[in-house]
Amino acid sequence: MKKILFVTSEVHPLIKTGGLADVSSSLPKALVSLGQEVRVIVPNYRALKLEQMPNIIALFRVGHHTVQLLEMTLPNSDVVVWLVDCPEYFGMEGNPYVDSDGNSYPNNPERFALFCRAAIEVAMDRINLNWKADIVHCNDWQTGLVPALLSMEYRCPPTVFTIHNLAYQGLFNGLTAAMVQLPSQLLSPDGLEFHGMISFIKGGIVYADKITTVSPTYAQDIQTPELGYGLEGLLVYRDEDLTGIINGVDDDWNPENDQLITKNYNASSLDDKVANKTALQARLHLPVDEKVFVLGLISRLVEQKGIDMLLDCLPELLTLPIQIVLLGSGDKDFEQQLQQFAAAYPHKMALTLGYNETLAHLIEAGADVFLMPSRFEPCGLNQMYSQSYGTLPIVRNTGGLADTVVDTLPETIEDCTATGFVFNDAHAGTFLEAIKRATLLYSFPDVWRQLQINAMRRDFSWQNSAAQYLALYESIE
Ligand code: ADP
Ligand code: GLC
Repeated sequence: MKKILFVTSEVHPLIKTGGLADVSSSLPKALVSLGQEVRVIVPNYRALKLEQMPNIIALFRVGHHTVQLLEMTLPNSDVVVWLVDCPEYFGMEGNPYVDSDGNSYPNNPERFALFCRAAIEVAMDRINLNWKADIVHCNDWQTGLVPALLSMEYRCPPTVFTIHNLAYQGLFNGLTAAMVQLPSQLLSPDGLEFHGMISFIKGGIVYADKITTVSPTYAQDIQTPELGYGLEGLLVYRDEDLTGIINGVDDDWNPENDQLITKNYNASSLDDKVANKTALQARLHLPVDEKVFVLGLISRLVEQKGIDMLLDCLPELLTLPIQIVLLGSGDKDFEQQLQQFAAAYPHKMALTLGYNETLAHLIEAGADVFLMPSRFEPCGLNQMYSQSYGTLPIVRNTGGLADTVVDTLPETIEDCTATGFVFNDAHAGTFLEAIKRATLLYSFPDVWRQLQINAMRRDFSWQNSAAQYLALYESIE
């Protein structure tokens, strides 16, 4: 049994901006079910959705700040969560990283440096909890200073650093580095320095004992100039310690017992899926029609997700006999352009801006296909959720999408492995061609049903991936 400190800046259902939150709850749950002792440590943002009052279990100083450590369990689980309470830094309403205009908080380096330092006090058991971590598992740039600073401690626990998205690096100017008071040994180009800036993510990549990312293909992608953001050389250098472990699907995303959908179903009762389609259409004021081909998309509306490609497709797409259901928020320009299409085609396109968990589940259950034309995708969760719901994903051939979706071709139809539609080039034309391919196959109900069954039979459970993380932890004792 290992004591694992899982350091993360978001965890579902307390606070979520993307897939990191899903992973930060489901991986610890899976590790606990494998007999491990996990503590998830996360900042105590004001926006946390708390159903219970956490207990104060420690009070300590980090630099000039007094920090409280609060304890609670993650809803519907045995996972213990420790909250780093420092109201000066985490007391603002709303998103953990950006203000309501989408601008990063100017004191993000100080905020996450404090979080990292607090995590180190906990990991080293300097706060009298009699709990010293055997492994410290850090995630994304917000936690990157943990492996760096921990490397300077005597008898420090080994560290794993998971890259969920290399596009976000925590790059700050050098003056800020002075403000977060990093030891000068860490500030060289072999350390955190990056073209005159300080890179938090380099703290993880340079100093962690092992680096993982969230799919085998993305582990390769980030070693190339296209997706390495200037860190590809370092990642190639650390290749021996870098692995890709695909994320899993949490039990919450199972159409058989999903409480948020209209009618539960499984691979043997796929006829019941249609009740979710009509409920979705009714809810979004689209014409209720069991037969019409419904395309779903749930996403952060950012360039990574290929929203520009979707926009380029829409003029032609909206001439076809289809309905499109979109849920997302992000880039204001994308939001406005999508709004214009939705206003012009109210009978064909429903756009919901904002974050809505219930609607996300209903879209997964009610749509026929799920669109994910990402320019790059470290893992991606929705294409896996979609397959579990018999909602065939249409994805670009990149990162985790390439690793989890099997394209529909004559041979994969024949051997019952086809689970979706994959296209190569990041162009609206190829995306549209894949959508048309799906539309054509939808007109063959027996073939379509078999594709749905193939998709629903895929095993995306967390047990496999959690076992791989455990093997990794054991390799660095
Ligand atoms: P990323 O982390 O890059 O955003 P992922 O596919 O890994 O992409 O995870 C996205 C997660 O966030 C999924 O669980 C998805 O359902 C959810 N999500 C994204 N946008 C919304 C939204 N507007 N409303 C509800 N859930 C959303
Ligand atoms: C990131 C990636 C996404 C991945 C998620 C969880 O946000 O963009 O592809 O699924 O992290 O690992």
